Amino acid sequence: MNAPLGLGILGAARIARSFIAGVAPSMSVRVVAVASRDAARAAQFAADTGVGRWHGSYESLIADPDVEAVYVPLPNGLHAEWAIRALHAGKHVLCEKPLAATHAEAAAMFAAARRAGRVLVEGFPYLAQPHALKLRQLVAAGEIGRLQTIQAAFGFTLADRANIRFDAALGGGALLDVGVYPISLVRVLVGARPWRVHAVARWDLGGVDETLVATLEHADGPLAQISCGFAASAHRYAVIAGTAGVLRTTYPNTPPAGQPGIVEIKRGVAADLDYESIQVPALNGFRAEAESFERLLRAGPDHWSGATAAESLDIMATLDAVLASARSGRPVELAPAR
Ligand SMILES: NC(=O)c1ccc[n+]([C@@H]2O[C@H](COP(=O)([O-])OP(=O)(O)OC[C@H]3O[C@@H](n4cnc5c(N)ncnc54)[C@H](OP(=O)(O)O)[C@@H]3O)[C@@H](O)[C@H]2O)c1
Repeated sequence: MNAPLGLGILGAARIARSFIAGVAPSMSVRVVAVASRDAARAAQFAADTGVGRWHGSYESLIADPDVEAVYVPLPNGLHAEWAIRALHAGKHVLCEKPLAATHAEAAAMFAAARRAGRVLVEGFPYLAQPHALKLRQLVAAGEIGRLQTIQAAFGFTLADRANIRFDAALGGGALLDVGVYPISLVRVLVGARPWRVHAVARWDLGGVDETLVATLEHADGPLAQISCGFAASAHRYAVIAGTAGVLRTTYPNTPPAGQPGIVEIKRGVAADLDYESIQVPALNGFRAEAESFERLLRAGPDHWSGATAAESLDIMATLDAVLASARSGRPVELAPAR
């Protein structure tokens, strides 16, 4: 039996609290240290979360020999800088979604991982759920035929104008924050990046996209529509329609406490067919993701349930193109993946 993977966390982020609570019962992963730019905040964060060690700077955490891998829940615009610094320091990196603020940054991050001989992955808790694995199996097995359309949404109400999500310089905006979920879902189900996207956005005065919709065209694949925003009542769903059936899902990070994951499937083409509810076990998404990361490090890439490097790069290329289209008002074609 291996010793638990020792994780260090950069920044006293809100999401880091949920991550630490989710991972706490794990036998294979242990959060061994947290860091903040502010020493008093780091000490308080460690005390609040029960983590045994704190660092008053990110530099100090990535130099800590007991930290084998680093979890990066910083503002999106800082993911590339700190993931690359952690990789150079010899740490593996589990980085929050979106992997970076641009595709160029993401490519530089993977190049740094290759040079360092360390592993870099993007964390999407929903992809570690049995729920997402079931969705992917059903689509891959042709249970709903050939994919024709995908509609996928993620939106909520964000009232706090001081939130990092409204700061363009930190990689804010609804697309990078929550639009990355439907875009990642489309990418993993379709198996390729779109060749062209068209997008429309409503812009916040601070210069970030507050509400955005986009159409994604796939060569020999479905037409997909995604939406995201900070100004609507919370909603998260996807409808995946094929030539022989339909799937409906909320692709949750973590299903509501005590409830199973549910995938709904209609088999057949008639309008009056009922949907069958397929129940799957529900896990804590952060724990499932962190344990999958540990297996990836100890046993190899087949043990990672999340986005591959090729998928993360396609997702970032799609995010770049969607933002460019929303800004220009014109369709944007993507270069093929290299
Ligand atoms: N997977 C999920 O379910 C999920 C959910 C929410 C968020 N996220 C991702 O997690 C990341 C953090 O989101 P969050 O809502 O937790 O953010 P947050 O609470 O605002 O925390 C971000 C942290 O970054 C650090 N930081 C460093 N430089 C900063 C700067 N210039 N301005 C502000 N903060 C700075 C701060 O820590 P110190 O000051 O302590 O150093 C701060 O606590 C984002 O990438 C987001 O997309 C993922």
